[in-house]
Formats: sequence, structure tokens, C-alpha cells
Amino acid sequence: MAKFYVTTPIYYVNANPHIGHAYTQVIADTLARYHRMKGDDVFFLTGTDEHGEKIEEACLKAGFAKGGEKDFVDSIVANFKKAWEKLEISHDGFIRTTDPEHEITVKRLLSRMKEKGDIYLGEYDGWFCTPCETFWTDTQAEGEICPDCKRKVDRIKEKNYFFRMSAYQDWLIEHINSHPEFIMPALRRNEVLGFLKEKLTDLCISRPKDRMSWGIELPFDGQYVLYVWFDALINYLSALEKGHGRAGYWPADIHLIAKDILRHHAVYWPIMLRSMGLSMPETVFAHGWWKMGEEKMSKSRGNIVNPLDLADKYGVDPVRYFLLKAVNLGMDGSFSEEALVLMYNSDLANDLGNLLNRTLTMVEKYFGGIAPFLPDDLKDPAQSARSAELLSAISEARKGSDALMLGKELKIKEAIEVIMSVVCRANKYIEVSAPWKYAKEEGGMEAIKLIMADLLEVLMTACLGLSCVMPSTSKKMWAQLGLEGDLSAHLKKMSLGQMTPQERMYPAGTRVAKGEPLFPRIQ
Ligand code: ME8
Ligand code: MG
Repeated sequence: MAKFYVTTPIYYVNANPHIGHAYTQVIADTLARYHRMKGDDVFFLTGTDEHGEKIEEACLKAGFAKGGEKDFVDSIVANFKKAWEKLEISHDGFIRTTDPEHEITVKRLLSRMKEKGDIYLGEYDGWFCTPCETFWTDTQAEGEICPDCKRKVDRIKEKNYFFRMSAYQDWLIEHINSHPEFIMPALRRNEVLGFLKEKLTDLCISRPKDRMSWGIELPFDGQYVLYVWFDALINYLSALEKGHGRAGYWPADIHLIAKDILRHHAVYWPIMLRSMGLSMPETVFAHGWWKMGEEKMSKSRGNIVNPLDLADKYGVDPVRYFLLKAVNLGMDGSFSEEALVLMYNSDLANDLGNLLNRTLTMVEKYFGGIAPFLPDDLKDPAQSARSAELLSAISEARKGSDALMLGKELKIKEAIEVIMSVVCRANKYIEVSAPWKYAKEEGGMEAIKLIMADLLEVLMTACLGLSCVMPSTSKKMWAQLGLEGDLSAHLKKMSLGQMTPQERMYPAGTRVAKGEPLFPRIQ
């Protein structure tokens, strides 16, 4: 059994999640579900990043006293957990950087890097961006502005511990070049390689406690707490130690992130791992940003959309579907509710919902609700040809969407499109085949049997193909199609190339159970 370890960033708990966070969750969830259905041993990790200046500030701003940080973060973490539950995120682990086990792991690994000679005491004199928790050099912070978030930076001069990143620059460049799937998509790999053209400076990894004490104390110097990013990145390891027996999941198959934290994951993290003597993750995949107009959606800018409000209004699955299908994974997207409604009406109400509804209505009307067996001998070459064409399209879609779902490019959007194109085709197939005309012809029922079998085959394929994107819709469709048992066994069969091109999955003789429309049109 192949293992599949997929992670999301652990989010800062200075505010509640917005659709940017939901986006990463839904992508990771869809992958995790797909791999599970294929029979992989999946560990899907998410969690929260709870230390550092940003959180401390938010805590004080929220009216908690100094020392009340844990109460503050507990209150926000609860909201993250609720949000992920509502959005049907199926993570196997939820790591918090305030977990005692995490702290123990961080200290142990920090000591290891110190013993290796990669951590030393020095003097820091430079710029610091509090919202980004990032240090910048004079050239980087030109005009006293953070090059990432464009906010004002602070000047800091103090004795601190440093991580010897500079010593690993050549090794990292070599690793990236010899592992083309290490940083994805290619655009981001090139960005990192571009960044590595300049000399890498050592990283300041401590904060004097008198300035900021909300963090993990350095195991070798009680005057300091650890830079929050060093603390945070180690979550990907500490989560494996926590419940015991998860060490075998390392290295991660995919660290899913957005491009805002690419450098931390594609430069700091591999170097930390190298220093600790651990193996590299297979892939760091950075997706793009959801924007409002031209601006990145972010808590600090306040231009956020709450995914739970959207889910209340349109349903969880349409929101998941929209997030995954609206943008090419890797690119930015501008959020608009109108676009969501348009996609809902066209893809879900018109194409998918309608196909299910029309098909089940016809199965009821012509066959009393029992899916017909194939006709023995259809003497209608035109209809037979149409049917054969549709069946090969189904077969292509099965193989195609599977390859896309499992590929390193994470072409989930394209996998959805492949499935939806068969759905569209099936709706046209109804128009062209016109079963209502056959119903009036002598012997026409034979053709209708074939048409129904074909449509049910498309619906079952769509149900399976979309089951990781829209888990509850899929269950409802499954039930309306009268199907029993576990989707997973069927998905495995469908996608493992065990089916011949003309083979059908949908069992004839099944009693369908037409129900409420899945996606009532939004006016
Ligand atoms: O960076 N569009 O936490 P964070 C798309 N704690 N994705 C977005 C987004 C947007 N507008 N806004 C946020 C941190 N995200 C650190 C991570 S990991 C060891 C530590 C998503 O709360 C996206 O996944 O700022 C992004 O990388 C992440 O949230 C940043 O979350
Ligand atoms: Mg952020």
C-alpha cells in the first residue's frame, strides 16, 4: 500500500479563516480523499500556528491580558476546527504549535541543528516586518517597506541566534535542479532559483524574551524564544511523532501552500531538514491567491469572504466545486459571488442536476423505476453508433480524470472538466437520441433501454469522478441511482484500468430512487 502524506500550512490564529484558507483545505482534502479511495495509506495534516508577535498583538487587541494568549488562541482554534468540519475537510491530524508534544519535538530538533554547528549567536541589525514575521536586508526593504506585503518595516538591532543557511545554498540549488518535482508548478521553481541567484544570508531565528515572549524557549538559551517560522515548519514532523507510529509517513508527498510562503517552504525548510539529517519532501506545491479585485484577500487587509456564509447560502459542495474549478491551480483568481452563481446554475443545476433528474424521470416513466437491461439486438445502427461513441467518451473520461487527479501537476480543475464534459455530452445525447420519439415507435423501447443504460453509466461515472470534490452530493446521487455499497471499490475499478473501454459498471435491474433535485436553480 502506497503512503500519501499531504499537508496544508498551519494557519495563523490571529483571525478566523476566509476562502483563501478554505481553498487550500479543499484542494488538500480532495487529494486526500482521492488517494484514500484508491487504497493509499493517507495521512492528511492541517493545523494552526499559534506563536509569535502577530498572534500576541492580535491577542492584546482582542482584549486578552498578557499571559492570556493560550485562552485567546483556543477560542480561535475552535473556529478553525468548526469551519473545516462544516466544509467536510477530512484531515487525519490537527496539529497546534501550542501542543506540548510539538514543543518537545521542536526543542529536540533545534538542539540537533545546534550540535551540527548550524546555529550560532550573532548580532542582528536589519529590518523586520511584523505581519509577515520576516527579516529583510536594507536592499530588500527599500523605502522601509516590506517587499512582500508592502507594509512598513521596523528597524531592529540586537544579539540573536542565527541559522547557517548560507552553507547550504549550493546544495539546495543542486537539489532543486535535480528534482524537477520538488517545487511545483515550474513557475514557482524558477522563482526560487531566481531568488537563490543572490547570496543566501543566515537566518535570524531567535527573539529576545523581553521583546516578545509568546513562543517556544530555545533549549540552549532561556533568554530567547524561537522565531515563529522555525517553530511552525517543524509541525510537519512533530505531528508524526504525536500519535506515535506515524514516523513512516515522512517524507511528505505534498506540502500544499500558497505562493506567499514559498520561500519558507522551498528554502528554509529543506535546509532545516538537511541540517537535521532528514529526507526531503517530494513536492512543495504553491497555489495562487484569491483576490478581491486586484488585492490579495487577507485578514490584515480585511477584504475577506467568509466561506461559511457562502456554504450557508449555496451549500458546501457548490462552494468546494467552485473553488476548485474557477481557477487553474497555481494561478490567482478574483473572487466574485456572481461567478459562483453562474457556475452553480450552468454546471450543477443545468448540466449535472438536470441530467440526473431527466434520466431518473425517464427510468420511472418507461421502466417503472427499474434500470433496464441492454437490448438483445438493436436494429438501429444510428443509435448503436451514438451509444458506442458515448461509451468511449466515458471510458476516456475515466482514465483521463484519474491520471489528472494523481499527477504531480494537481490538475484537479481539469479532472473535473473531463468528467463534466461527459455530463454535457450525455445531455446532448438525450436531445439527439430523443427517447420520447422512440417511445411512439414500434419496437422503440429497445432503443430507450440502451439510452437509459448509457445515461446511468454516465451518471455513475460522474458520481464517482466528483465524489472527492463534492462528497455529500455524491452520496445523494449514489442513493438516487439506487446504488449500494462503497464508492471506493468502484472508483478503484474504474480508474485502475481494470475496465475495458466498452465495459459498464452500472448494474441493470437496479431500482432507482429519484429524490429532491440536487441543485435547485438560483434565480
Ligand atoms: O502563513 N488565497 O499562515 P496564514 C489563497 N502560519 N490562499 C490563501 C489566501 C489567499 N488570499 N490567504 C491565505 C501562515 N491563504 C503561516 C504558515 S506553515 C508551516 C505556516 C492560505 O494564516 C494559503 O494556503 O497567513 C496560504 O499559504 C496560507 O493560507 C497562509 O496562512
Ligand atoms: Mg499570511
